[in-house]
Amino acid sequence: MGFTLRTLLLTASATRVFASCAHGTFLQPRAEEGGAVKVATFGYTGTIGPLNWAALEAPANSACATGTRQSPIDMVDSVFTILNGADVQLTVNDMPDGADFENLGTTVEVITQGGTLTVADKTFELQQFHFHLPSEHLDNGTSQAMEMHMVFQSAAQEIAVIGVYIGIADAAAAPAAAAPAAAGKRSTSRIARRQEATPPPPPAAVATRATTLLETIFSTVDQISVPGTKVKTPPLVMSEVVDLLKANAFQIYSGSLTTPPCSEGVNWHVSTARLAVAPATFVKARDVIGFNSRFPQNTPGQPNILMLSALGSAAAAVMAAAAPAAAPAA
Ligand SMILES: *[C@@H]1O[C@H](CO)[C@@H](O)[C@H](O)[C@H]1NC(C)=O
Ligand SMILES: [Zn+2]
Repeated sequence: MGFTLRTLLLTASATRVFASCAHGTFLQPRAEEGGAVKVATFGYTGTIGPLNWAALEAPANSACATGTRQSPIDMVDSVFTILNGADVQLTVNDMPDGADFENLGTTVEVITQGGTLTVADKTFELQQFHFHLPSEHLDNGTSQAMEMHMVFQSAAQEIAVIGVYIGIADAAAAPAAAAPAAAGKRSTSRIARRQEATPPPPPAAVATRATTLLETIFSTVDQISVPGTKVKTPPLVMSEVVDLLKANAFQIYSGSLTTPPCSEGVNWHVSTARLAVAPATFVKARDVIGFNSRFPQNTPGQPNILMLSALGSAAAAVMAAAAPAAAPAA
């Protein structure tokens, strides 16, 4: 009840772009049907998937097929500029009583309780953060395990999103991990004996540790496996992630929402920081989220890849019609 009422109130007060915008997907009008919250009508596979988003709701979603600054993209050097984390003001309120964590069918989302991002004298208010699996942006060509989107809106109804890649933590980085056991066991090998004479080498790399905030949030994800359900998380401390974001940099570019209606003018801040979840946590999150990543879009400023694809399909059809009938396949 309260959930639906709040959703309606927020929807009524939001701007048109944000109300219909799936990046604040909790703002989409949803009616209660038989006690269940109605979830988003778009999806990630088949006819409701991203290849067909524009047709799902025309003309509202037309930017999905015709926009020339669409997101996500491959974050290669030439498409972004760097903004130091120290040059933005970022605050996110802790949530000592926990936060609502909702399954929208298209993502799982934490409803936040205040936070601001100030960049170049422009201030944006944090609305929510949610997760994509696998990552939507590519890190110089490489997909990451997950991506977190923190969605902010300014008083002038502009949208800024902080994107943060999430990797899989090393099992060895778990606090209870035993000391390396193999080292002393292979002393019969000549190589091992030679190594014993010299000091042990330093670890090849610092092990990736799981992010406490994410472990806390996803500890409840199995309780919202059904779209339209929500749960209260344990208390959330945000400083761990906020400090990490400030200590790193943002790769910034102007793009779009990665969900219908694919509105452009979104101020993207993709962090160079990395969060991580434990392997078992990743599996638990994956089993609920499934797959919710839009395919990488063309380089900003270049034609929408779906327009190019449509031209290519039409040309192929004309050529096929003009060609002599194919001989029966051998
Ligand atoms: C991105 O990848 C290319 C090769 O694929 C490499 O030459 C380039 O140095 C990489 N850039 C960064 C910032 O790692
Ligand atoms: Zn998103």
